[in-house]
Amino acid sequence: MTAYKIAVIPGDGIGKEVVPVGLDAVRRALEVTGSRRIETTELDWSCERYLREGSLMPTDGLTRLAEHDAILFGAVGLPRVADHVGLWGLLLPIRQSFDLYVNLRPVRVLDGILSPLRHGTRETVDMLFIRENTEGEYSGVGGRFHQGSSDEVALQTAVYTRRGVERIARYAFERAKERRKQLASVTKSNAIQYTAVLWDEVVRDVAKTFPDVELTSYLVDAAAARMVTEPASLDVVVASNLYADILTDLGAALQGSLGLAASANLDPSRRHPSLFEPVHGSAPQIAGRGIANPMATVWAAALMLEHLGERDASALVLRALERVAREGPRTADVGGRASTREVGAAIVETVGAEDKD
Ligand code: NAI
Ligand code: MG
Repeated sequence: MTAYKIAVIPGDGIGKEVVPVGLDAVRRALEVTGSRRIETTELDWSCERYLREGSLMPTDGLTRLAEHDAILFGAVGLPRVADHVGLWGLLLPIRQSFDLYVNLRPVRVLDGILSPLRHGTRETVDMLFIRENTEGEYSGVGGRFHQGSSDEVALQTAVYTRRGVERIARYAFERAKERRKQLASVTKSNAIQYTAVLWDEVVRDVAKTFPDVELTSYLVDAAAARMVTEPASLDVVVASNLYADILTDLGAALQGSLGLAASANLDPSRRHPSLFEPVHGSAPQIAGRGIANPMATVWAAALMLEHLGERDASALVLRALERVAREGPRTADVGGRASTREVGAAIVETVGAEDKD
C-alpha cells in the first residue's frame, strides 16, 4: 500500500508545538486500523522564514504542495510581522489557488469542557458550520482614492457568483443529509438586496433537489443571538465568507476555548490537496512554554483522516479526544495544569485503547 503524502506546515509559535501531536494521533490511528501509513514532508514556511529569507514560502511552493494528498497546517504569525503579510503570504494563496471553497468548522462542546453558556453541553451545542471560502466579501475587489486627504474614498465589493453559491449550498445540503436533515442558511437579505438575495434564491433552488432536508433562512444578526439563546435549534449552518468567519469565532468561544476549534479547507472535487488546521493563531504570549492546547489540531487531524477516506481512524482519534477532554489531563485554557505533551501523549495512548467504561 502506498503511503498518504502529507505536507506539514507547523508555521510559527504554538503551531510548532501542536502540529506534532496531531501527526502522532494520525500515525497511531492508522497503525491501529492497519491502513495506509503517512509519509510527511516537513515545510518550514512561516513568518520566521519571511524574516530570514524575505518570503513565507518558496516561489514553487504551491507546485510542491500540489503533489500531496493533504496539508496539515499549524498557524502563522509573529508580532514583528504585519498580520496581513502572514495571511496573504501563505494561507490565502493556498486557499485561493487550490480552490478550497469549503471551510468546515465543527462547533461542539465536549464533555468535561466548560462552555461559557449556562446550558452549553454536547446535547445543546453541536453545529457544523460551512463557510464559503473563496469569494464573497473576501474577494479583494475594490480600491481607495484621494488617499490620505479629507475626500478619501474606499470601496470594497463583495463578489457572489451563482456557481460559487450553488456549489457551497450543494455541499451543505449533502452534509445536512448525513446529520439532522436541517440546514440553516445565513445572510442579511433585508439590507443587502443584491448579493444576499442572490444567495437566498440560489440556496432555495438547490433545496429543491434535497426534499428530505429542511431549509431555514436566518438573518446574520438573529443567527448570532440564536447561537447563544437556542443553540440546539441549529445543526448544519451555511454562510458566506465574512458572516461565517464571525459566527465561527463565536462558535469557538461557545466551545470553551479557541484551543478546541478545528477547521478543514476542502476542495471537494479533490483536484487539489485540502488543508486542515486549528482555527487559532500562533499565540505568541504562550509560545515556547509547552502549554498550548493541542486538541484543536488533533480534531483537525481527525477531519483530515475523514477526508482521506479513513473513517475508522478518524473516529478513533475523535473518541480519544473526547475521552481525554472528559477525563483529563487538560491544558490551562480549559482549566487544567497539564502540558501540551502530556495531553498529546494521553490522546495518542487512548487512540485505539480498549474502552474501559
Ligand atoms: P491566537 O489565536 O493566536 O490567540 C488568541 C488567544 O487564545 C490568546 O490568548 C492565546 O493565548 C489563546 N490561544 C489560542 N490558541 C490556543 C491554544 N491552542 N491553547 C491555549 N490557548 C490558546 O490569536 P491572536 O493572538 O489574535 O494572533 C496571534 C498571531 O496569530 C497573529 O500574528 C495572527 O495574525 C496569527 N493568526 C494566525 C492564524 C492562522 O494561521 N490561521 C489565525 C489567527 C491568528
Ligand atoms: Mg476568524
